[in-house]
This record gives sequence, C-alpha cells and structure tokens, in this order.
Amino acid sequence: MKTEDPRGPWLPLWEAGRVAQEISEGAIYRNLDEAARNELAGISGIPEKVVGALKQPKPLDICMPVLNAVLAAQYYEVFEALQPPRTMAVYEPCVGGSNPVIIATEAYGGGKASYLAINLNRKLREELRGKTAHLKTPIRIIEDNAQRALAHLAPHSFDVACFHHAVNDILQTAVSEPRGMDTTATDWFPNERQMIEWLAEDARAGRLDQRGRPELVQIVGDAARLVRPGGYLLFDHWNWCRFIGVAWFPWDLFYNLIPMTRRWVAESGLPLAEVRLDGLDPQWWLILRNAPAE
Ligand SMILES: C[S@@+](CC[C@H](N)C(=O)[O-])C[C@H]1O[C@@H](n2cnc3c(N)ncnc32)[C@H](O)[C@@H]1O
Repeated sequence: MKTEDPRGPWLPLWEAGRVAQEISEGAIYRNLDEAARNELAGISGIPEKVVGALKQPKPLDICMPVLNAVLAAQYYEVFEALQPPRTMAVYEPCVGGSNPVIIATEAYGGGKASYLAINLNRKLREELRGKTAHLKTPIRIIEDNAQRALAHLAPHSFDVACFHHAVNDILQTAVSEPRGMDTTATDWFPNERQMIEWLAEDARAGRLDQRGRPELVQIVGDAARLVRPGGYLLFDHWNWCRFIGVAWFPWDLFYNLIPMTRRWVAESGLPLAEVRLDGLDPQWWLILRNAPAE
C-alpha cells in the first residue's frame, strides 16, 4: 500500500512565494492585528522583501514588518510540518515583546491552541499584551526566571516549546543579573549593548561553562520535562549584517548560537533527538523531539 506523507505539502519549508502569500493574504496575514495588516498592505514589493527576510544573516535593508510576519510564517510552517494537535499547548521562555510564535500558534490552532510564556522583563511584557489583545488563543504570561518554570508548571503539560531567538536572551540574563542588573525592571533595549558586552567578555575569558551554559541547559532540560513524550522543542536564531565588524558585538558567538546549543544539549545527555526538515538550515534552526513514551 502506498502511504502519503501528510507533511509533504509543507516541505521544503519556507518556499518564498508561499511565505509571501501567507503574510500578504493567507494564514499569517489573517491573524495579525489591524495595525500590522494595514502596515503590510502599504508595503510594496512584498515577494522580494520576503526573499530578503528569509536570508541569513539578514540584509541591511531588511523590512521589519515583513521580517516579523515571515518569522511567524516560519513557525507556522514548522507546526504544519510536524503536525502537533491543533489544540496544542505551546510554551515559550523569554518572549519579551515579540509575537511571531503567538501569531503562528493562532494561525495553526485557529484559536483552539493555548499559549504560555515565562518572561522577566516587565516593559516588554506590557508591549506584548498590546500586540496580542485581538487573538482568540488563551495567553498566559508568568513573570519569573525560566529557570523556575517547574515551580509553576506541570511536567508533560505542553506539546511544543519554542525558543524563538531566545538563546542569546538567556545567556545575556545569566551574565548580567550576577553583575547587578535587574533585567525584570530595566528597560531591555537601551541596556542590551551592556549585556552583550558582558557576554562577549565572559565568552573571551572562557567563562560560559560557569555562567551561561548551566542556565541554558537547565532551562532547556526543564522545557524537555514540560513537553509531553513525543513533543518538540524548537529553536531559532537570526543575525543581522548590521553587526558585522562592530567591535563590541561578538559576531562569531552569535553566529554559532544554534550549533553551540546543539552541542551543549547533546553533551547534557537529555533524552532529545534532532529532527531535520527539508529546507531548514541547521546553522539557524534546531528541532528536538522528546523521547516518545515507552
Ligand atoms: C529582547 S526580548 C527577546 C524576545 C524574543 N526572544 C525575540 O528575540 O524576539 C528578551 C526577553 O527575554 C527575557 N529573558 C531573558 N532571560 C530570561 C530568563 N532566564 N527567564 C525568563 N525570561 C528571560 C527578558 O526578560 C526579555 O523579556
């Protein structure tokens, strides 16, 4: 008997024409709020801008509203390829003010999925509330360090954990809090350069194994406990050409955050197996599957 692969239509992932359709009239566009839809409607040459937004590192002339929608489309297509239940529960550590995972969850679940974030920075959380008020998906945001996720949440209560551009956030917090920065109350973006400089300093001194790596591995390990057997952990990171050659910016570290995470997870012995999807570049994305139940 010939069996069809139900995931076939979505692979290879992120075909530029299909993504352009998704963000200018399809599943992503329909789930944006009115302001974001109006902004996109006023932008010309979306197909070419999608091609730019899909590049790594992102080009200097990147169009931010298109990039944000494309990031949502990328998660949406990964969900379609992996086929978690439409009623899936999604966990996102370090969401900040960024809504691509939430928009993708709404598009995939049609309002039947649920979403929970754990996040420290208060100002960004308030920004996020404004960007998600129109959605049907129930959204809960816990204000705490993701290292304490298991104090709030039950094991096996999620289908998918999404680390959207979050590896750097976790490392930055891990090196900044011990130096006295309160990353909950601080204004994140005006202080981010200082966090990155401290991170660069620790990486140069070979100190990430003492600070940075333990926090990241704990948060990923806890996410693996929170996700049901057979569920997924998704990681992405994107870089921007603007930072090439900028003295204070640790380009090589940021370029290799996903490969470094892959190595740290492999060395941690967590029961996670990598899933490779056609079209997904392992330099910038990592998909891990929790060991299925015996
Ligand atoms: C700039 S936002 C980034 C949002 C999103 N990850 C993105 O890149 O689009 C960084 C957020 O990560 C949060 N964060 C960093 N480390 C964290 C941790 N250990 N636990 C919870 N939240 C954390 C910060 O509080 C902040 O709200």
